[in-house]
Amino acid sequence: MNKIIDLRSDTVTLPSDKMRKAIASAELGDDVFQEDSTVNKLEQKAAEIMGKEATILVPSGTMGNLASILAHCDRGTEIILGDKSHTCLYEGGGISAFGGIHSRQLPNEDDGTISIEKIRASIRTKNDHFPKTSAISLENTHNMCFGTPLSMEYINSVANIAIENGIKLHIDGARIFNASVALGVNAKTLVKNVDSVTFCLSKGLAAPVGSVVCGSKEFIYQVRRNRKALGGGMRQAGILAAAGMLSLESAENQLAEDHKNARLLAEGVSQIYGLTIDLEKVQTNIIYFGLNSTHITGPQLITAMDKRGVKFFETNPNIFRMVTHYGVTNKDVLITLNAFTEIMK
Ligand SMILES: Cc1ncc(COP(=O)(O)O)c(C=O)c1O
Repeated sequence: MNKIIDLRSDTVTLPSDKMRKAIASAELGDDVFQEDSTVNKLEQKAAEIMGKEATILVPSGTMGNLASILAHCDRGTEIILGDKSHTCLYEGGGISAFGGIHSRQLPNEDDGTISIEKIRASIRTKNDHFPKTSAISLENTHNMCFGTPLSMEYINSVANIAIENGIKLHIDGARIFNASVALGVNAKTLVKNVDSVTFCLSKGLAAPVGSVVCGSKEFIYQVRRNRKALGGGMRQAGILAAAGMLSLESAENQLAEDHKNARLLAEGVSQIYGLTIDLEKVQTNIIYFGLNSTHITGPQLITAMDKRGVKFFETNPNIFRMVTHYGVTNKDVLITLNAFTEIMK
């Protein structure tokens, strides 16, 4: 059977043979008692990489964001976030459902930023009618905004607003290492002035499960309590951490390769009649492109490509997303482009 080229997401990555071996031989203990030495090693390594006092392994990016925001915001207070952020769109409204936290949704620009002026103007003044602003959340890279990396300068400008107003800054860094590779700035520098960051081991980093939340010791203490309350206290979680350790070691090389493949794919798409793409927006491993044809509809294009073994999503009518990752090789990109050419000719 021909290989399926799965460009739906970098979450589809499967653990490598090396990871499976590391999982099989991992030293384990009870992580709720903080006695799993493999988890402890992963958390220590993550703390070094992110330059934060403490970190904690959680089951998913969604739980990492939720447990972090619950730690930063009291019930009835407000968090400023982007209207295209993952937390706003795809986390089940968890911050309001479980935390009673009010979201102040500001427009995300195409590059994933939120206007500095709009953030500043949205910080609540002291008034009995208003909820209190307790935090700001940014996403880096920004999934729904073309996978764009947020620059260190932009993050620091938002951090200054947070400091001036005595509120917290959280980063949903599910793909922070993609940002780091694309910008040529290490992750530690990118998050130096933020209070907390969550990153995912299970996306481009290819581990099967897990995300890590990073911040001060006091903050991580509260996140640990939140993780337990949310049912995310895992026992012999070293089987996950063992794979995560390998992810952290191989991150940069693999992600750079994924970005190269995304660029090749995007440039190829730009040459195909009936497909449209803004090449300048392709900076990491996420590509959005459009269909401009009277001969084929979006769902027909998806089905025709699927029959040729290539999978991706239509995110809006005639707008599609493809994501490269370690399961997609240079050769797979060429096969994908050939399939597009055949269908669109
Ligand atoms: C930017 C971003 N944040 C958070 C998440 C949530 O991660 P998880 O699927 O592990 O809950 C995702 C998942 O795709 C994401 O893209």
